[in-house]
Amino acid sequence: MATTGLGFIGRTTLIITVLLTLGGCATLRQFGPSVQVASVTPGQYIALKRGDILTTGKLSSATTETLRVAGLDEGVCAKPGLPCIEAMEASIVVREEDKRSSLAELWLQYAMTLPAPKREYSTSGRAKSAITELDADFQPRLDAWMQVARQAYAYLFFTERTANQRGFEDRQTQVRDYYNLAVQEASVQLYNAYATGRVHAEASHFQLGRWTFVLAPSGEASPLDKRTPTELVPAASLSFTGTLRSVHRRDGFGAELVAVMDDPTATPATTTPATTPATKTTPVPQSWSEMPSPSMTVLLRFSGKNLWEVLHDDEPELEIHDPYQVTEVTLHGQEVPLAANFTAGYALWLARSNFSHQSLRSLFGGKGGIETPHLYMMQPYDPNRRVLLMIHGLASSPEAWVNVANELMRDDEIRRDFQIWQFYYPTNMPIAMSHDAMRHTLAEVFKHFDPSGKAQASHDMVLVGHSMGGVIARLMISSSGDHLVDTLLATAQMTPAQRELLRTKGAPVLTFLPEPEVSRVVFIATPHRGTDVAGTRLGRWIGRLVRLPLTVLEDVATIANDGQIDRSDGKHGYQMNSIQNLDKDDPFVRAVADLPMSPKVRYHSIIARAKADGPLEKSDDGLVPYWSSHLPRAESEKVIVSGHSVQEATPAIVELRRILHQDMQQHGGQTQ
Ligand SMILES: *[C@@H]1O[C@H](CO)[C@@H](O)[C@H](O)[C@H]1NC(C)=O
Ligand SMILES: *[C@@H]1O[C@H](CO)[C@@H](O)[C@H](O)[C@H]1NC(C)=O
Repeated sequence: MATTGLGFIGRTTLIITVLLTLGGCATLRQFGPSVQVASVTPGQYIALKRGDILTTGKLSSATTETLRVAGLDEGVCAKPGLPCIEAMEASIVVREEDKRSSLAELWLQYAMTLPAPKREYSTSGRAKSAITELDADFQPRLDAWMQVARQAYAYLFFTERTANQRGFEDRQTQVRDYYNLAVQEASVQLYNAYATGRVHAEASHFQLGRWTFVLAPSGEASPLDKRTPTELVPAASLSFTGTLRSVHRRDGFGAELVAVMDDPTATPATTTPATTPATKTTPVPQSWSEMPSPSMTVLLRFSGKNLWEVLHDDEPELEIHDPYQVTEVTLHGQEVPLAANFTAGYALWLARSNFSHQSLRSLFGGKGGIETPHLYMMQPYDPNRRVLLMIHGLASSPEAWVNVANELMRDDEIRRDFQIWQFYYPTNMPIAMSHDAMRHTLAEVFKHFDPSGKAQASHDMVLVGHSMGGVIARLMISSSGDHLVDTLLATAQMTPAQRELLRTKGAPVLTFLPEPEVSRVVFIATPHRGTDVAGTRLGRWIGRLVRLPLTVLEDVATIANDGQIDRSDGKHGYQMNSIQNLDKDDPFVRAVADLPMSPKVRYHSIIARAKADGPLEKSDDGLVPYWSSHLPRAESEKVIVSGHSVQEATPAIVELRRILHQDMQQHGGQTQ
């Protein structure tokens, strides 16, 4: 009995024990090594594969994997830092390619932990950086970034496979980004140290800490040849709010930077050498300038016969390129595209120039406006590119062309053939005077850059004018004969002093031949025959507020010889300002509309109409009526439903591109 009882209990215990054991085993097995499948979305998969220290703040899966292979993942590399980097460097089990790419990322991780000097960029003027206080942290930071650059460089050009063989690999893209970022950081540090006098410079050698940067002579004219920057800004650190629709850049190798130069418009050009005794003449500000903040691309080139030497090269070559001129560089026998951010320089210039405030001030003659036209070149002068010259309209500024210029330059062919220049002018000036001043500026520029007149840049210019800028563009390709002077004398109501002025001072301004450089013009929303608005009460009211620039008034006073400046211009006699010039009944605008245009020049119209319905002949863009902007003999006419600021509308930019492509085709056909 007892045995049975015991037996029962014993058996039960046994069974329970067995069950438990089995259960235990089953449970344990689940924690043991096993392969499991969980589903990931394609997006997660790619994020996992592509993520790295720059994008997620965590090491990439490739580096994590390499650390594991080297057996460092749970030991010395559990925490980031120099010991991990040293251990990785010493490892003999990983492939060279994996080692270099991982080391680039590990150095990057380390560099990012070092405190960066604060970089503050004001929207005007200089960077407000006070770097001197951070001297102590400066050296390890530079070292870390230089290590990133060097390791990445070694990976890209000195490991088993070539960059081309790895062309489609994510890893190569990651490492290229590390390199570009490291070169950016190192060059900004070098520049800041140089600007604060802490670089030992000798000829083209710049020594900073243990590094010596050897400035390589660039094949092309460098943006820094003639001017020294006051500031070096990484393109990626700029973000712009506002009207800019797209960023135009090129993926590739090198750090994308913007060099901010001293603005020559702010300081008058000193043409007299310091040695000659000062004369009484006041310096005339230069009426043109090259881009004050050109985009550039910087490379660091390490050298050596083998990997070991490259990894110990402390004297890299520093190369500075103009990305408009150079699209590819050869590095160790491999052609690689040169990175570029074309928008950055342009946008920085617009953001800092304060055009929108200034242009209105100029119109109403306020302080801080401008007094004479100024020509801006959007890139350093290039003798081999034709000029695409843009002229803005009333109360406007180069800001009117933000998206036009940016989007045209995205087009590889247009960028290869053209350089953009833009006039900025006080739009209160009488149209004839703006036109005259612009011609003088152009002549000066061509004389300065191309005295023999042989360069491509001096021929076959394409003019694009918006609104009043179109009227000026038209004058540039017209022959005046005596027509303007005669018509004005005959029809305009003028005081005797004004008549005298017109005969003497006015005649040279109002007598001209077509500019020989121009071969094509695009008129955008141009009031060739004036507008109704200018003659309305509102127009007259605005017209009265428009003040002539002081310089014009002074001219008037000097010529009339009464010494008195008549500030209420227009109260008596013929009102001479731009608004008046845009009235359909203004004698000047009527005379201009009759002038013959050069038969050699082809021209096109882009016309806006505010409302899509109704007859075209009766339409207007809110300001300019169709009958005024229509030219019967235009080679093409594109009508777009839009307000007067049609130049920035996408269909207008598309049309402009079409015209330019057509032009390039014909131009290519001519020269070949
Ligand atoms: C731009 O001009 C306006 C008016 O002249 C001025 O108030 C403003 O401070 C200027 N901004 C910059 C960034 O210069
Ligand atoms: C290019 O420059 C623009 C500023 O104009 C900036 O917003 C953008 O981030 C830059 N792009 C890159 C990839 O650096």
